This record gives sequence, C-alpha cells and structure tokens, in this order.
Amino acid sequence: SNIENGSVKWSSPSNIALVKYWGKKEHQIPENPSISFTLSNCKTITEVTYSKKAGNDFSFDVYFEGEKNEAFKPKIQIFFERIETYMPFLRDYHFKIETSNTFPHSSGIASSASGMSAIALCLMSIEQKLKEDVTLSAVERSFDKNYFNQKASFLARLGSGSACRSIEGELVVWGKNESTESSDLYGVKFDGEVHSNFKNYQDTILLVDKGEKQVSSTVGHKLMFGHPFAKERFAQAHDNLATLKAILAFGDLKAFVKVVESEALTLHAMMMTSMPYFILMKPNTLEIINKIWQYRAENDSNVCFTLDAGANVHVLYPEREKQNILEFIKSELVSYCQNGHYICDQIGLGANQI
Ligand code: PMV
Repeated sequence: SNIENGSVKWSSPSNIALVKYWGKKEHQIPENPSISFTLSNCKTITEVTYSKKAGNDFSFDVYFEGEKNEAFKPKIQIFFERIETYMPFLRDYHFKIETSNTFPHSSGIASSASGMSAIALCLMSIEQKLKEDVTLSAVERSFDKNYFNQKASFLARLGSGSACRSIEGELVVWGKNESTESSDLYGVKFDGEVHSNFKNYQDTILLVDKGEKQVSSTVGHKLMFGHPFAKERFAQAHDNLATLKAILAFGDLKAFVKVVESEALTLHAMMMTSMPYFILMKPNTLEIINKIWQYRAENDSNVCFTLDAGANVHVLYPEREKQNILEFIKSELVSYCQNGHYICDQIGLGANQI
C-alpha cells in the first residue's frame, strides 16, 4: 500500500456474561461456550493514528486519558505478536494509540473487553483503508461488513477472550455449542428469538471494591487446568446455554434469574475450589446478594445479580422495574459500595465508528 498516514476512531462497549467463560485452551480457544449482554454506557473510546515508517519493529505509543502510558504497552506488544499473521501491515507503520474509558479509572470494572475490542476495530478500519488502494469486486464488497465484524471479533479474542463478545449487540455467543450458531474463533450475534421482557434489560453495576484484581484472568483461566470439577463445569455451561436460549425465547424471567445467579456463583465456586484457591467476593458482595434475595422474595420482583471475577455486583432487571429497583439500590445497596459508587447501564447494540 502507498498510504502514508491517517487515523481511525472507535467506541466499543464492555459486556457482561450470563453464561461465563472460565477456562481456555491454547490460542485463546474457550473450554466452554459463553453468552453475554453487550453494555451501552461502559465503553472505551480509542483513536489510532498511523504513519508509515522504516524498519521492521513494532512501533507504537499509548496514551490513556490524555497521558502517555507505559503500563499498557506490554499487553499491546503481546497482542500485536499474536495478530501479526492476520494483519501483515503492523510492522510498516508507527501507531499512536489514544484511549479513554467512559467509566472511572480503576473502578474495578474490567476494561479489557472494551479496550481490546476497540483496538481490534481500529486495526480493522486501517486494514480497510489500506485496501481502498486495491480494486475490490462488488461481491467482495458485499461480504465486507460480515467479514469486518467477524475478523474484528477474531482479533479482539486474541487480545482478551471476552473482548470478542463486544463488537455487536445485544446478545453475543462465543464458543462452539449444540444450541446456537457459534464459533470458538469469534463471537456471533445470538441467533435465537428474544422475548420483549428482555428489551432494554438494565444492569446497575455496584462498585464494591475498586482495587486491583486479586487474580488476573490469565491466572484465573489456568486454574481450570486439572481442576477437579472442570469437566462437569464445562458440560454445565453447554446445558445452561441451551436452557437460556429457551428462556430468552419464552421470556421466562423467573427461570432467567436461576440460570444467571447460578452461573455467577459457579464461577466463584470454581475459584474457591481450585489450587491455589481464591475468594474474590468481599463481605459487602454477600450483603448485597442477600439484600437482593430478600427484596425479590418480598416484592415479587425479577431483579437478580451476576458477578465477574471480582467483588463488584451487576444488578440485572427488566426495564419495567427500573424505578423501583433504582429506589431499592439507593436506599439499601449503595451503602455497601465503595464511596457509594455505582454505574447505571443497560443492554446495548455494540461498537460504533466515530
Ligand atoms: O476475557 P478474560 O480472559 O478477561 O476473561 C473474563 C472471564 C469472565 O469475565 C470472568 C467471564 C466472562 O465470560 O466474561
């Protein structure tokens, strides 16, 4: 390509798994299928400026929230090494990567899904621009959007597994399974029916602990090697995905609550029963869970919780319960959050080019 320089910019969301990915094989291949809600407000915005350079090294600078950042560089270096066979232009350009999050820094919210998917999308846009040099047939162009999203998700997966579920919305499946169209190599939009009960589903994220993650997900996934319950857990994820597919079609909120909460507790149970073992919940995580159970019993509500590999609680509920649940959160749950901090989000449509 004779293109010398340019810049591209994407905003890409975080996602929250309903059936959890925990355990992987080589090359970021998941041990079990997962499905997630794409979020709407928790996003990373990344601009990549590229300029042709001489030499054969990877060359890039990272700016986080306006300041030069060295801490992210090793992760991106590894990411570039993993994807370079699929993006042969990487060594021909210098990249200035400017990134920021809509959610507060070190809030304990995983930014790897939104961050890695945003870079992957920027690199895809650059690949596309470099191709504009080349003449494409009409058929090739018509394949383009599907190709673009699939390859963006494929690349994002190599940055961080769950990042492959952040390209599209509103529900994305990753990992081969018997119930839905899917791949181990990239996330695909859930192909099943979704009942209107799940329209604009709400996720209020309660920030219980904003500290550094006690267990990185790299270490976490490895705990599933030789784990005494691994085989059963992976089989359970297949079953839960099949069950959830039917639940999503029929709009059965009571059944949804059961699968989603069981998945969250199972994820933590896997960590408690691995060697070494970890407890990633905090006392306030348990306080919140108990309050949610109490509220649900007393108010015929469908509010439920899910967790990632940390202490923060995602409170999930249908849009029609929004007013009541926000009142409940403010009066009963906010006191368990660090500095009273929480983030209101809802199911979203995926990444956007800016
Ligand atoms: O994408 P990773 O490698 O950071 O793994 C994240 C795994 C969980 O967030 C705990 C579950 C999931 O499916 O997102």
